[in-house]
Amino acid sequence: MGVNSMDEIRVTGGKPLRGSVSVQGSKNAALPMMAASLLHRGVSVLRGCPKIADVYCMEEILKELGASTWWRGNDLYLDCAGADRTEVPGDKTGKMRSSVILLGAMLGRNRKGLMGYPGGCVIGRRPIDLHLYVLKKMGASIADGEGYISAVCPRLAGTEILFPKSSVGATEQGILAAVLAEGETVLCRCACEPEIVWLCRYLKKMGAKIQGEGSREIRIQGVETLSGGDMKVPADRIAAGTYLCAAAATRGKIVIENPPEGELDAFLQVYRKIGGQYEGKSGKLIADGSGVRFPLPFLETEEYPGFPTDLQSPLMAVLATIPGESHIRENIFEDRFKLAGELNKMGASVAVSGRDAWIRGNASLSGCEVKAEELRGGAALILAALAAQGSTVIKGYSFVRRGYEHICRDFAALGGIIEDTGTT
Ligand code: UD1
Repeated sequence: MGVNSMDEIRVTGGKPLRGSVSVQGSKNAALPMMAASLLHRGVSVLRGCPKIADVYCMEEILKELGASTWWRGNDLYLDCAGADRTEVPGDKTGKMRSSVILLGAMLGRNRKGLMGYPGGCVIGRRPIDLHLYVLKKMGASIADGEGYISAVCPRLAGTEILFPKSSVGATEQGILAAVLAEGETVLCRCACEPEIVWLCRYLKKMGAKIQGEGSREIRIQGVETLSGGDMKVPADRIAAGTYLCAAAATRGKIVIENPPEGELDAFLQVYRKIGGQYEGKSGKLIADGSGVRFPLPFLETEEYPGFPTDLQSPLMAVLATIPGESHIRENIFEDRFKLAGELNKMGASVAVSGRDAWIRGNASLSGCEVKAEELRGGAALILAALAAQGSTVIKGYSFVRRGYEHICRDFAALGGIIEDTGTT
């Protein structure tokens, strides 16, 4: 996604955030649910779907295939009755990573698909070999080159597939391909992220036969057809974690009205370690960041249920406000420390070597001009700016809008001073 000169926000920091906030529907759950909707030749509904750039982009791709879509408030209706075109051009798929999971759904539905290469945040190499591996194992012939991937198959056939490594997207790809395949598919060494479980719940509502989601082994019995899906998109655990980090960075206190249940445990343990407190009450999560003051000797990102890579940057922004040295190791993506240099401009001292970052925090960061280069790193810069003295201009705000529906509005409602200086 491009960055233009108007694509910026100004944040005046130094005030602890206070108040209540609801979190949006989950981006990473909504996108595969949208892809799953292609497997029914009729209308499906995703309730409480976030209105974010990545969802709009997936909507555009589905329309390109022949679907009609419309919104009622935040409910997204997808009519895939006529979505029988089988080609998606690269200018559409290049805007986001998740476009690639449509390939399994296209094969399941029409036995062929041609699509441009997926894009997405530049946080590492992000190959798609595991996605293609699972489709080939199920009988697809794939030609991959010149920026396009083309796949054809007879009806996909169930088989046993052992993933060489755990991948959220490739697990989703396998599930989407298997639900309409012939016979039983057993996916081994699957990712266990909550978004996999939500996708399976949605598909089961559509009539799919799936067992074991959320564990390392998922068994899927192929069926002939699926009916329409209708489900609420779950609360976004990463957006919730980002807001909790904002409370910590500003030493504020916030209430999350609709916290994702049980999905933030690893994050909350870390929250406590750095001096934050939290309690669950009447279905709400009350988080008090006023006591945040302890650096973190060591933290590494891991697959679920470990600490999520998507909250690594927001956490780094918090650690940048804590005097003393913290150490983070990023195990999932190779290049996810792009914000370090920007935090240093604001007065932190972050040293990066390969997958490791050592953060020497500064209790009084100061505002300046910084640039977001990807989604979560961009959100983290907003947190640092909310904590900093003076005013910060954050360029590249469109990266943040890919995943957060109302981040500026929400932080403003919590007392943050944010001005959208752009036109976008
Ligand atoms: C998803 C999430 C993203 C999150 C990530 C890890 C969505 C839309 N995005 O991304 O927010 O940060 O999970 O929790 O849900 N890999 C390969 N070959 C492949 C696929 C992946 O080597 O074919 C590698 C990746 O480069 C990475 C690791 O596997 O190092 C994990 O990636 P994966 O779990 O696939 O992440 P995504 O599904 O892209």
